[in-house]
Amino acid sequence: MTALPTPERDRRRGHLRQLGDVLINPEEPVERLRAACADLEEILIELHGVPSAVTAEDQRYRHASDFGEVISPGYAISTMQDAIRTAKFLRVLVAAIRKRRAERPDERVHILYPGPGPNAPFFILATAYFSPEEIGYTMIEYMQESFDGANRLIQALAFEEYVNDFQHGDAVLYKHAGPPAHILIAEIMQQGLRGEPQFAIFKNLVPQLAEDSDIIPFRIELRAGLTDPESEFKGVKGYPLAAAGLALRQDLGRILVLDQETLIERHKREPKKYARLQDWETPDFKAPPVISNATTFTVFTIIHIGEDVELREGESGLTMPLYRRDIPVIAPGDDIRCKFKLGATPGLVFEHVRPRMRILQD
Ligand SMILES: C[S@@+](CC[C@H](N)C(=O)[O-])C[C@H]1O[C@@H](n2cnc3c(N)ncnc32)[C@H](O)[C@@H]1O
Repeated sequence: MTALPTPERDRRRGHLRQLGDVLINPEEPVERLRAACADLEEILIELHGVPSAVTAEDQRYRHASDFGEVISPGYAISTMQDAIRTAKFLRVLVAAIRKRRAERPDERVHILYPGPGPNAPFFILATAYFSPEEIGYTMIEYMQESFDGANRLIQALAFEEYVNDFQHGDAVLYKHAGPPAHILIAEIMQQGLRGEPQFAIFKNLVPQLAEDSDIIPFRIELRAGLTDPESEFKGVKGYPLAAAGLALRQDLGRILVLDQETLIERHKREPKKYARLQDWETPDFKAPPVISNATTFTVFTIIHIGEDVELREGESGLTMPLYRRDIPVIAPGDDIRCKFKLGATPGLVFEHVRPRMRILQD
């Protein structure tokens, strides 16, 4: 795709602003957020020519990389339809850029955006609010067709001036050069941080950011709990879940937190070992002495996209609880040993240990 004729390009740029205005407005109902994402997808697909996985079966594959699954270009497109997620990421990004611009009006804000997919929504929509003098992007995309698709968008809409660098490569291994990056934004994850390489990518990129930088999401926290899924879904088709079921939940505590503070602290503590770390320690859990019907070990994914902007449970596939039915029913006193593995199949691994009854106590 070459550049669109100027009137058509300006019409499309106007559309981006209209859709962006819907998405960044927290008062908008979810139906309009969904409609805005659908309109945006239609425009972008027409420009880059990559079909969405919703319409093209053969676009639903996942590629196994050394550091986790890489979703197909079509899948990457369809994740944009997770409308509350897309809207909240955009709101936090636009607010972070505005804040930096207000504090340092002479500084061009540099954004690091790994995994833009063919749609590159957090690049394309930001152009509706800021000029190339105000913001610049470095992007890294693993999938060749996604990389090519995003490049066609950039050409069609003549957004080249916004791009400092766009590399076809692996963001887990990327070494940043050029202007220091002030904002890191990425959504390369599933619930429980399983499968995809969000953790490994943030682990690599966060220590490379400029001081006083922002990361989006601001904090991802995994918590352990006990639930009774049958009661939670009793009589309801989805969210909101049944109150009686929710009342049975028991929190067992934090499994891990992925944020700037944690990564920087670890990087400073073990600078040599840091890059090679394959496991991330997490605490073990002991089931409480009294358990109701809530006997299913469950992982909760709590995402603060910005410091004050949470992607709540039920708002996105990313925050759906992971009911671990593969772990046997939990009984009082059970130990659940836990580890977060990086590497080709990232995610939490659990070992369930039921202490045997003992007669001898010393
Ligand atoms: C869930 S999609 C997100 C697409 C888009 N940024 C959005 O939020 O709508 C994740 C993207 O990350 C890319 N990706 C996955 N692993 C990667 C890696 N190691 N390095 C760079 N890109 C990666 C995938 O190819 C995919 O385009």
